[in-house]
Amino acid sequence: MTATGRDRTSNAKLLAWVEEIAGICKPDSVYWCDGSKEEYDRLSQQMVDSGTYIRLNPEKRPNSYLARSHPSDVARVEERTYICSKTKEEAGPTNNWMDPDEMKTVLKGVFDGCMKGRTMYVIPFSMGPLGSPIAQIGIEITDSPYVVCNMRIMTRMGQKVLDVLGPDGFFVPTVHSVGMPLQPGQEDVPWPCEGDISKKYICHFPETREIWSYGSGYGGNALLGKKCLALRIASVMARDEGWLAEHMLILGLESPKGEKTYVAAAFPSACGKTNLAMILPPQGFEGWKASTIGDDIAWIKPAPDGSLRAINPEYGFFGVAPGTSYDSNPMAMDSIKANSIFTNVALTDDGDVWWEGMDGPKPSHAIDWKGNDWTPDMDHPAAHPNARFTAPAGQCPTIDPAWEDPQGVAIDAFIFGGRLSKTFPLVYESRDWKHGVFMAATMGSEATAAAIGQAAIRRDPFAMLPFIGYNMADYWGHWLHMEGKGYKLPKIFRVNWFRKDENGKFIWPGFGQNMRVLKWIVDRVSGNADAVESPFGLMPRYEDITWAGLDFTRDKYHGIMDINRQGLLAEAAEIKQFFATFGDHLPDELERQRKALEERAGSAPEVWKMAG
Ligand code: OXD
Ligand code: MN
Repeated sequence: MTATGRDRTSNAKLLAWVEEIAGICKPDSVYWCDGSKEEYDRLSQQMVDSGTYIRLNPEKRPNSYLARSHPSDVARVEERTYICSKTKEEAGPTNNWMDPDEMKTVLKGVFDGCMKGRTMYVIPFSMGPLGSPIAQIGIEITDSPYVVCNMRIMTRMGQKVLDVLGPDGFFVPTVHSVGMPLQPGQEDVPWPCEGDISKKYICHFPETREIWSYGSGYGGNALLGKKCLALRIASVMARDEGWLAEHMLILGLESPKGEKTYVAAAFPSACGKTNLAMILPPQGFEGWKASTIGDDIAWIKPAPDGSLRAINPEYGFFGVAPGTSYDSNPMAMDSIKANSIFTNVALTDDGDVWWEGMDGPKPSHAIDWKGNDWTPDMDHPAAHPNARFTAPAGQCPTIDPAWEDPQGVAIDAFIFGGRLSKTFPLVYESRDWKHGVFMAATMGSEATAAAIGQAAIRRDPFAMLPFIGYNMADYWGHWLHMEGKGYKLPKIFRVNWFRKDENGKFIWPGFGQNMRVLKWIVDRVSGNADAVESPFGLMPRYEDITWAGLDFTRDKYHGIMDINRQGLLAEAAEIKQFFATFGDHLPDELERQRKALEERAGSAPEVWKMAG
C-alpha cells in the first residue's frame, strides 16, 4: 500500500501545503518519495517502459540512462524567469519582475488541473549535508519522474530529510509541473512539457521563500534545489542572515608538506568551471594534490572563529557533456562511468553515449540527440551543445575527504574569472576587500557586438547575473558589508585564461597548467610569494610562478601580463555606463574604486610592463 503523507511526517505545515497543492494541480495520485534505491530503480524502469529513458549498455555504462528532451526544452529559460519581490526595485534592473499577488493569480490559473492524469511526487530534499548548520531543507512537488531521479542524484533526498525536518522544521516549498495534463485515455509522450515558451514560468517569491516552475522538464528549470533554491532564494536568505550563497566551485589544494588551502571560484558559463573544480596538478607539481568539494554552488557562512566556512549544497554534478574528455577533464569522465543520467547526448551503436569533443575518433554512426541517424559528415552535432550528465559527486575520484563535513571548509581565497582576449592579465590580486568586490562586480566575458550593443564585455557580476534573487547592486553592498565584522576575509583574485596573441591564438595553455596560477594564489595566502603593483592590482613576476614541467618563456609571460593603457581607459569608461544602470542602489564605494582605476590608467604608460 502506498504510504500517505501522515505515515511519513507529522509536520503539519508540510501536510497542509501538500494537500493545498494537490487541490490546485488535481493529480490522479500523490506519492511521497522515500529516496531508496528500490524507488529509483522502479521509476527508472517505468521511464524505460514509457520511452522517456533508454537504458545504456550495462557493460559499458552500468545503471545509466539516456533521456532525450523535447527539442524546445533544452536549457534554462532566463526570459521566463521572474523574481517576484514586493517592488520592482527590490528585484533590480537585471531581473524580470512581476508583482507577487499578480503572479500568484497567473500561476493559480496555470497550475489549475495541470497534473491531471499524472502522479504528483513529493520530494523532500536537503541542500547540504543533512543536519548541517549551513544546510537548508526544501520540498519539491513535481509531476515528473525524471525530476525525481535527477533530484536523488543532485540532492540528499527522501525520508531521512523528513526525519531531520521534524514536526515543525522550516522548509522551502517548491512546486514544479511539466505543464502537460493528460485527458482520460490520452497517451503520454516521452518528454512532456509546455511547447509554447511564453507559457513557461520560473518564479521566485523572495519574501515567502517560494518557488513555482511551470512548463519545462529540463535542468535548472525543473531541478528546483539547484539554481532556484540554492542561488536565487538562498541569496536572499544569505542577505537577510549575513552569509553568502554563490555560483562558485570549491577546490582544495594540498602542498607536498600537507598544508591545505581551499579556494572558491566564480566563472560565467563556458569558462571551464567544472574543469577547474576537478583539476589535476600537471608535471612539475609532484606531491601536490587537488580535490573537489563542488563544481557549481557554494554556501559560505561565518563561523564563530571568524573563518568563512563553505559547503557544496549539492550532492551531484549536472555538467555540460560536450567538450568533456579524458584530455580536458579525466576526473569528470571517471565520475560518469556508472549510475548516471545523460540528457540530449548521442547514442552509439553499442549502447553507450557520445558527444562532440569526447576522446578518440568520432563514431561512424550514432543516433543523435533528436533520435535520428547521424554520421560524421552531417553538418549538425550529434549531441546538443547543452547536453548534460547527472552524476553522483561521490563518484569523483578526487572528491575531497571533507566534502560532506557539515561544518564546511574554511575558504582562503576567492577567484573570479571571465573569457577576455585582451587587456586583462593572467592573474591579479585585489589591493584589499573593497577592491576585490569591485573586481568581482565588474567581471564578465567578451561578447559579440550584436549581443550587447556597444559594450565589448558582457558583464556577469560574480557570475550571478541569471541567479541573483534581489537587486544586484544591493548584493554588492552585502559583499562590502562582510568587511569590518571581525571575519578572516579571504584574499580576492581575478584570473583570465583566455588572452590571445596578435594572431588570435590563446597564449596560456590552460587546463591543468592553471595549477601554476593556483599555486601562486596559495603562496600569497600563506605569505610565501611576492607581488608587484600594477594598474589593475597585485601581480606575480615571472620568477614568482613555478615553471617546472612547462616551457613558457619570459616573453610569452609578458604577452599575458602587459597592460594596454587604452584598454584600461576603455574598461573604466564601460564600467561607468554599466554602473549607471543601477541608479542610487550602486554603493558609493564601487564608484570610488572605478575612479581609482581610471586615475591609475591615466597615469600609466601606453603599455604597462612589469620590470624583469
Ligand atoms: C549551470 C549554469 O548549468 O550555470 O550550472 O548554467
Ligand atoms: Mn552554474
